[in-house]
Amino acid sequence: MTNFSQNRREWLKRSAVLTGSLITSLSIPSFSKPAFGMTPYKGTYALAEPYGIAPHALEEIKARLSANENPWGPSKMAVQAIAEAAGKGNRYGHTIAKKMLAMVAEKEGVSEDCILLAPGSTDVLEKTAFALCINGGNVVSADPSYMSLINTARAIGATWKNIPLKSDYAHDLEAMASAIDGETKLVYICNPNNPTGTLTPASAIKSFCETVSSRVPVFIDEAYIELMDDHEKQTAVGLVGQGYDVIIARTFSKIHGMAGLRMGYMVAKPERVQAIKKLVRTEMGVCMTSLEGAMASMKDVEFQSYTRTNNKECRKYVFESLKRAGMDPIPSHTSFILFPIQMPVKEFLAGMVERGVGIRGYTINDKPYARVSMGTRPEVELFVQSLNEII
Ligand SMILES: Cc1ncc(COP(=O)(O)O)c(C=O)c1O
Repeated sequence: MTNFSQNRREWLKRSAVLTGSLITSLSIPSFSKPAFGMTPYKGTYALAEPYGIAPHALEEIKARLSANENPWGPSKMAVQAIAEAAGKGNRYGHTIAKKMLAMVAEKEGVSEDCILLAPGSTDVLEKTAFALCINGGNVVSADPSYMSLINTARAIGATWKNIPLKSDYAHDLEAMASAIDGETKLVYICNPNNPTGTLTPASAIKSFCETVSSRVPVFIDEAYIELMDDHEKQTAVGLVGQGYDVIIARTFSKIHGMAGLRMGYMVAKPERVQAIKKLVRTEMGVCMTSLEGAMASMKDVEFQSYTRTNNKECRKYVFESLKRAGMDPIPSHTSFILFPIQMPVKEFLAGMVERGVGIRGYTINDKPYARVSMGTRPEVELFVQSLNEII
């Protein structure tokens, strides 16, 4: 017991040092003055990130609720397909990719030249930033929102026009449209939005795209949309088939539970797909095992609805537990919930880590917030118990 606590203290100390040195050594561009006077939010990572802040934390963390992973995945059919594909790994996956391309095109109701397969949607976000912002310009997006595309665009010389979300945390589409100028290379919309979990209704997105996309492409990141029961009504993918300059990103990391297997795709006008293909050979990054796993998972509709149902039930439990604890959580359409907290973010996250729970924190408009991902029942129960002890 003593050893365990000592080890934990040691580990926390080491993590803090490591986190600090990583943050100072990463060359993430600093935020320029916000265009619309809102303080840009800063993500604060709980010590449970799979990508290196404190790898040893993974052993200590009992409830990993920081990265919006799917705790019920992957589908058994996907796992079997991956195992069978591994033995064919001496060959490049071109022919399998062709099969997947046809399957995705059919699902989305577009021709194959409107699809770009990629190892995760991060790849689609970053490569779109490269293709469109290679000569600078600006990107218009909500604040707070998901930052992958924006960070890459900024790193290669573009600027960010950040438009505060409205008081109900919906996108302020009117303000976003007014922010477009001659230098704007694209508008980025995350729907439902990360980290708020809020949805901008399909009808609003549709009329926005119908007017704005004749001036600049509109990128809609739909990472969480398939977790919604009425996702077919909410998606904007139909606009691509109608000829609008709209770029949709989808991922297998959420509904399909394949975050570590890396699969995603883009649906857009053929010119947009070609602009990326001219720059990089994105499909070379997609491996055969993930392709086979993704195709099997697409066919496993039972697993997808299992995830949807579990996610919904879990979200209801976490939301109601937060309310009971006196918190004011933001109603979510995703696999995470954001809520304001009444103590410094670092202190709150440290209290969670101390109890074996990894979550994420943010500073939004100078106020502290925490974001918890959905997990298995024991994981979210540990979160709720820890919350009640900390506050
Ligand atoms: C809005 C959003 N887009 C994209 C991603 C990245 O997903 P992927 O695992 O496909 O790279 C995430 C991951 O959490 C996300 O929240």
